[in-house]
Amino acid sequence: MTNARRPLDPDKLKEYSRDLFGHLSGAMTSAMIYLGDHLGLYRALNDIGPANSPQLAQHTGLDERWIREWLYQQGAARMLEVDEDGRFSMSPEAAVALVDENHPAFGAGFFGHLPETLAVVQRLPEAFRNGLGLPYDAFGPEGARGLERGFAPWFRSLLVPMALPRIEGLVQRLEAGESVADVGCGAGVAIIEMARAFPNSQFHGYDVSRHALERAEQNRREARVDNVHFHDVRETPLPDDGSLGFVTTFDCLHDMTRPDEIMTAIHRSLRDDGDWLVADIKSYPSYAENLEHNPMAALMYGMSVTTCMSSALSEPGGLGLGTLGMHEERLTRMAREAGFESIEPIDLGHPVNAFYRIRSGN
Ligand SMILES: C[S@@+](CC[C@H](N)C(=O)[O-])C[C@H]1O[C@@H](n2cnc3c(N)ncnc32)[C@H](O)[C@@H]1O
Repeated sequence: MTNARRPLDPDKLKEYSRDLFGHLSGAMTSAMIYLGDHLGLYRALNDIGPANSPQLAQHTGLDERWIREWLYQQGAARMLEVDEDGRFSMSPEAAVALVDENHPAFGAGFFGHLPETLAVVQRLPEAFRNGLGLPYDAFGPEGARGLERGFAPWFRSLLVPMALPRIEGLVQRLEAGESVADVGCGAGVAIIEMARAFPNSQFHGYDVSRHALERAEQNRREARVDNVHFHDVRETPLPDDGSLGFVTTFDCLHDMTRPDEIMTAIHRSLRDDGDWLVADIKSYPSYAENLEHNPMAALMYGMSVTTCMSSALSEPGGLGLGTLGMHEERLTRMAREAGFESIEPIDLGHPVNAFYRIRSGN
């Protein structure tokens, strides 16, 4: 029976409508999380809570009536706890997810460029018509800053102490002095962390986003590290003389218009005994598998349309892999085509990313 002939089920319609408005509710809650983060309301409540709206208003210098309505929304959305006296507070879990920028579970950073993301949505109908997406710079400086805050906690807390030691011999080589590149480096947090930890090594970050590279340079200056340099990869390509001992790509291959070309360039840049550490979103070859295994599939496909696939289609001929497009099978095939022989998954217990050690030899 075709869809048109199926009779309308009133109970299913209620259920469907509940789901539909649940998504709108999620969008509204996301906007409120953006405001709470942007205005420092979570941080203030974490400092003084439990608190009612006059107390929070006094502490932040913001208008009580607006704070009251925001608190009511956050209580209703179960982002904040409310006691019988009408005072709101942050649970320990909320404090980690919304305030502690050094904890790997800090999530509020990803809401930081929500206004810029929604502004870009207005430009997407044109992309659906002409097929061309928008690069990361379409989100402006706040877009680069939002991604930075989203990804930084993991880099700051786990990259150097937990991830790098999983590649045999790498830490010793970095301590002795290596040449390292991070391709798709964004705001440079990962490579600055590595540069700080390994002062005898030289680090180079490459990206195509002007806003991200500006943030990276600012972060480098603030961190006072001088063994890291940032480049626009279109002006300064990777070295092609096999001079690098270690290359990283974090959450960016699927965003690139031509990841195949970058992989070939990475292969040319690496010594025969060098290592390439890849992080990319855990995904599967088929849509059905992604739906089955990824509870955040709707979020991921949405992010793909607004951001990842859009970036990967931002030039004519872009492959457009998208957020869930760089699964192990494709990565393995493309890495082999680029000249690599060994692709070895590394389980780092990350909720979203899969990690791989890739080498020229076995
Ligand atoms: C999701 S962000 C990840 C940034 C960074 N690796 C991190 O984890 O914070 C993806 C990055 O890939 C960059 N990118 C996209 N296409 C690229 C290309 N062809 N070459 C280098 N970087 C690229 C984007 O500009 C963006 O900064």
